Amino acid sequence: MKTTGGSDVAKRRAGKQAAEEVEDGFVVGLGTGSTTAHAIEAIGEAVREGLDVRAIPTSFQSRQLALEVSIPLTTLDAVDAVDLAIDGADRVLDDPDSSADGTLIKGGGGAHTREKLVDAAADRFVVVADPSKLTDRLEAPIPLEVLPDAHSVVAEEVHDLDGDPTLRAAEAKDGPVVTDNGNLVLDCEFGPIADPDGLATRLSAIPGVVEHGLFVDLADTTYVGTTDGLEVLEH
Ligand code: A5P
Repeated sequence: MKTTGGSDVAKRRAGKQAAEEVEDGFVVGLGTGSTTAHAIEAIGEAVREGLDVRAIPTSFQSRQLALEVSIPLTTLDAVDAVDLAIDGADRVLDDPDSSADGTLIKGGGGAHTREKLVDAAADRFVVVADPSKLTDRLEAPIPLEVLPDAHSVVAEEVHDLDGDPTLRAAEAKDGPVVTDNGNLVLDCEFGPIADPDGLATRLSAIPGVVEHGLFVDLADTTYVGTTDGLEVLEH
């Protein structure tokens, strides 16, 4: 699994707390990453103790882990509703005075397209994070999943928006990262992002962009695990 910063104790605390929200009969969206992995493990434990759930994974990684811990799986087109989605984030805007409070940057693991699909479909979307993800100013690069044929033209469009795109390189393979959907990822620096909603709209409008990693107005609650406790942010 891709490693990110932050303490594993803190991530586990957040993941376990989110798993507590899962009720009998729920359809649950399973996000991707090292923090959500703790939630998936906790849900698996509850399933072994008799909890009846069906889960929709958002990546090869979360599907594999769910299978390992014996969580029954389903798909978005086989259910009437998703009761709860649990997912990590690379950045969480923590600024209660801002209308953009709770905006996320996701896609550090290249899974944000399916994550957004499932997180947006859920009645309730809970983010699990450690304190290193909180920020009062969004300025991390925005991942764009792009069709392979489109990477150069999308890069030009990003330059036109005053962004600086970098094709994400694979670490244990020559060439670029290829997503679970067979696409490429451009990590795009925009500096401080004052208007995430406006930028999200402009990025979505670029032909060849499958999905971007700005999650605006989707998260309901963020559980922030710490080494000795838990903070709950309502958005
Ligand atoms: C996957 O593409 C990302 O959106 C992850 O959800 C995000 O990187 C969080 O991962 P960690 O929980 O490992 O930090």
